[in-house]
Amino acid sequence: MRHLLSAADLDLAEAVHVLDTAGQMAATQAREIKKLPTLRGRTVVNLFFEDSTRTRISFETAAKRLSADVINFSAKGSSVSKGESLKDTALTLQAMGADAVVIRHQSSGAPHTLARSGWTHGAVVNAGDGTHQHPTQALLDAYTLRRHLVGASGRDDVTGRDLAGLKVAIVGDVLHSRVARSNVQLLHTLGAQVTLVAPPTLVPVGVEAWPARVSYHLDEVVEEVQPDAIMMLRVQRERMSSAGGGFFPSPLEYTRGYGLDARRLAAMPEHAIVLHPGPMNRGLEISAEAADSPRAVIVEQVANGVAVRMAVLYLLLSGSGPEHRGGPGTSA
Ligand code: CP
Repeated sequence: MRHLLSAADLDLAEAVHVLDTAGQMAATQAREIKKLPTLRGRTVVNLFFEDSTRTRISFETAAKRLSADVINFSAKGSSVSKGESLKDTALTLQAMGADAVVIRHQSSGAPHTLARSGWTHGAVVNAGDGTHQHPTQALLDAYTLRRHLVGASGRDDVTGRDLAGLKVAIVGDVLHSRVARSNVQLLHTLGAQVTLVAPPTLVPVGVEAWPARVSYHLDEVVEEVQPDAIMMLRVQRERMSSAGGGFFPSPLEYTRGYGLDARRLAAMPEHAIVLHPGPMNRGLEISAEAADSPRAVIVEQVANGVAVRMAVLYLLLSGSGPEHRGGPGTSA
């Protein structure tokens, strides 16, 4: 693995290897070995052209816990506001010696452009590009599903370390969601059965080609599919207004048809869990009761994101891809 640009970059063995490595990383953190020496002397640049709380902090924490030097770049307050291009920004950061560039950008495909361009010699990690991909979010979601629903649950129809047999409903603004696109791909690779649930206006053109079933009726899916996990998506109002489109259905209709509330939560299987990538619109796609319920693993997703991003940086920068099965080591 030279870069991580898309969930589609990972085959089953590679995805399982990242998740296993994240498990090893989490184990070192649980043993209070807060800092591993693995990436000492390496530099990770966080290049964020679009706002972020979880992903940016998580990559910074992950890199520091691996002893890397971290340069944080945010487009706000930088020379980007004077018109500096992605190319010149990347060349400037490369001059400071980036071994890895973690990039979030509002334009779909920006991480691919950077990886192909030669503007950086480092590994490129996609931290979210437009409505396209957010592969480390999908990995941390899969890691969270695995922790809760595989093995420990005692389910015998879920096999091994992948997610075969698991039923996952992804609900909401699929149209604008890079989280949905990445999760559909990765969950399919890992063997889960995905159902997308959205109002017709928030379903992308071409969804028939995705490896997922599509429904317009959340209550039917909850009753009939009985998903093991429900992943609520943020309604991305900022992308709707920038596209000049309105928000249809109205917020009230949306909440009635597609919001997760206590009634829908009670209709789900007892073992089912609730995920949300954050940030949440409480009261719109998820009620406070559902978000704060013991079945919601939303805060845990954030913690798991650090372990997963440690694994990704370690595998990209230490030359320990799936073909090198050694662990990260714990000698601090
Ligand atoms: N899940 C996610 O990408 O959150 P941020 O936008 O806060 O990074």
